[in-house]
Amino acid sequence: MKARVLVVDDEPHQRDILQMILEGEGYDATVAGNARQAMDEARSGSFDVVLTDLKMPDKSGIELLSELQKTQPGVCVVLMTAHGSIDSAVEAMRRGAFDYLTKPLERDDLLLVLKRALERTRLVRENRMLHEQLRDRFRLDNIVGSHGTMQDVFRMVHKVANSSSTVIIYGESGTGKELVARALHYQSDRRERPFYAVNVAALPESILEAELFGHEKGAFTGADSRKIGLFEQASGSTLFLDEVGDLKRDLQVKLLRTLQEREILRVGGTERIHVDVRIIAATNLDLEKAVREGRFREDLYYRLNVIPIVLPPLRERRPDIPLLVEHFMKKYSGERPRSVSPKALNMLVEHDWPGNVRELESVIERALLLAESDEIQPSDLPPAVRAGISSRRGPLPLDIPDSGIDLEEVERSLVLKALEKTEGNVSRAARLLGLTRRTLQYRLEKIQGESEAAATGPARPGDKR
Ligand SMILES: Nc1ncnc2c1ncn2[C@@H]1O[C@H](COP(=O)(O)OP(=O)(O)OP(=O)(O)O)[C@@H](O)[C@H]1O
Ligand SMILES: [Mg+2]
Repeated sequence: MKARVLVVDDEPHQRDILQMILEGEGYDATVAGNARQAMDEARSGSFDVVLTDLKMPDKSGIELLSELQKTQPGVCVVLMTAHGSIDSAVEAMRRGAFDYLTKPLERDDLLLVLKRALERTRLVRENRMLHEQLRDRFRLDNIVGSHGTMQDVFRMVHKVANSSSTVIIYGESGTGKELVARALHYQSDRRERPFYAVNVAALPESILEAELFGHEKGAFTGADSRKIGLFEQASGSTLFLDEVGDLKRDLQVKLLRTLQEREILRVGGTERIHVDVRIIAATNLDLEKAVREGRFREDLYYRLNVIPIVLPPLRERRPDIPLLVEHFMKKYSGERPRSVSPKALNMLVEHDWPGNVRELESVIERALLLAESDEIQPSDLPPAVRAGISSRRGPLPLDIPDSGIDLEEVERSLVLKALEKTEGNVSRAARLLGLTRRTLQYRLEKIQGESEAAATGPARPGDKR
């Protein structure tokens, strides 16, 4: 790819000469006549080096430098200055400019400084990417999940990471969809490039369209420069389309076409641009249902549903809760060792977690802040979690008939039902009934005693007791 240089100078003649020289040397050169235009250009695409005049009518090169530093971290700025103002050039260097050139420019000096600037940009970016990767790798290893369903997810991630096929991740809010999407990217051979993500439910349709596909200069009012969209930026990498189920109709069509043809058209543009993007989509909706109800295009559904990965809600993998608790305790405890009391842990395991892992994470973070002792107590948990079992059960699933019921008989049949449901596993049956194993054992013995007593009533021949 050509290195991209932005030339900023208020003198048109100077701009043109510079552009000619740079393009002659194989650079991709863009020009701007003042700092405002330069910022617009910088926002619409990423530059490797900005070459700017120091004295300009609207804002000085130094002001432009500090704006660029705020919005485009890592960008390399070279200043051009007339002989008399070397002091300001030195000042600019102090503020982080890479170098300065004095006017009239010498062609060889210019090219040499540019070459060094590009090298620095490359190093800075590489370094940043390495840091990001390290951070993300670390996160990847930190996806907690021992439950069978999560192990299946991990196996799937390993298996499909390196393909370019579209993946769609289903799961309720907070189940870790984005975490898995990142894991896929950082295990793929696209990992050297950044991971791109966009939440399609968060933006109004027209903005989202420009965000995804970009636009040409003048495509609509306010489009005063060209914008490179996410599909183009993420070419060679991964693009995560979060909440894809909420995509509006028109954009569903455009996305479908992009997936089919691997080409995009910028808004207001005519040139078809090839993009090589690995798409990972996610949704907390039931897409099949959305298709049946006509809210989601069936053809797009099939294009997305190539490799589906389903993240189960936390309440369906309760054995993972203590592991996640431990994981978040480590994450938020800092230096001081902290623990969770058995009673509090039990409540955490029993809670239904409508907000899934995200909710659990914030409950732990909050509890660590609130807890006065080193051990988290039930009183440090939010009321909804403390209410635990009783709130989860909701209204009683039984009704009392007018003829009345025999409470002991009801208890007996519920106990037997629970055992039937757990195939005789007493501990699990006890959990279903909200009893400890010992209490259930005790009641079982009582029930057995009663039925044996009943059986001995009128003695049956051959009845061995
Ligand atoms: N298995 C897990 N192990 C460790 N942390 C997890 C796990 N699952 C989720 N998390 C953490 O929970 C939080 C929510 O995860 P994430 O953002 O991936 O969820 P999501 O499914 O994308 O949710 P939403 O649909 O609300 O966007 C994050 O902080 C994430 O790190
Ligand atoms: Mg998410």
